[in-house]
Amino acid sequence: MNNENLLFYNEYERFYEMAERSSVFKNFCRDAYGEDFSQDGFSDIKQINRIIDLIPKGNDVHILDVGCGNGKMLGYLQKRTDVYIHGFDYSENAINTAKKLFPANADFKQGIIGEIDYPAEQFDVITSMDTIYFAPDMGEFIQQAIRWLKKDGVVFICYQEGDVMPKTEGPRTTVLAKALQENKIPYEVEDITKETYEMLKKKRETALVYQKSFEEEGLKEWFDLLMIQTDCAVQSFDLFSKEMARYIYIIRKN
Ligand SMILES: C[S@@+](CC[C@H](N)C(=O)[O-])C[C@H]1O[C@@H](n2cnc3c(N)ncnc32)[C@H](O)[C@@H]1O
Repeated sequence: MNNENLLFYNEYERFYEMAERSSVFKNFCRDAYGEDFSQDGFSDIKQINRIIDLIPKGNDVHILDVGCGNGKMLGYLQKRTDVYIHGFDYSENAINTAKKLFPANADFKQGIIGEIDYPAEQFDVITSMDTIYFAPDMGEFIQQAIRWLKKDGVVFICYQEGDVMPKTEGPRTTVLAKALQENKIPYEVEDITKETYEMLKKKRETALVYQKSFEEEGLKEWFDLLMIQTDCAVQSFDLFSKEMARYIYIIRKN
């Protein structure tokens, strides 16, 4: 696959190579987010545990994560609920690690959002944590994801504004919300901006605790990036929420 021209491709390859090798980064993720999922962003354990409430009980339950990285979030959900896990990501390094870490009842594929396809009615839950931004057409991608869902299935999307996507007025004016409205797809949305602000504060404090260890592992560059990512949470929540927002969108298939 010639991925080199895709947005951030080389950056993510380097990120997942570092995430596999670095023990400081693993410890940092565990302390900052409550669990190490090799996060490149904003998903902490509180957000991920919301997915568990949406997973049906039973023996033949399948969950797909779009932009699954190295699969650690799916691995956690499998440990908690015993589901079959499926994931795709364009990063070869990430998918190689996922296959190694989670070999049982799992299917990990290298694939590009908007290009990869699955047969209809395969999944009970589809999650997309900070990856929908990379879909060439969000509305079209959601239609495709709904096709992949079984009846009564659910799509769970964590969506950030003020980072890759521009900040808009509120949860019903985001680029994603507009795409859903244009495609007449009903959705529920929860605003988690306040808890994200608190999480980013913790992320910054934790990064500072590990600063020396990052430097000793030759990872000053990643420490500096963590400072840039969390700089927005140094100000008051009122100012933060003018620049940033985080929402969870839920789409149900009837
Ligand atoms: C912001 S990270 C989020 C990763 C993970 N879901 C999380 O919450 O920590 C975006 C992920 O999407 C993947 N990605 C970026 N662009 C992609 C694309 N066009 N197709 C497939 N995966 C992509 C990256 O490799 C990365 O794993």
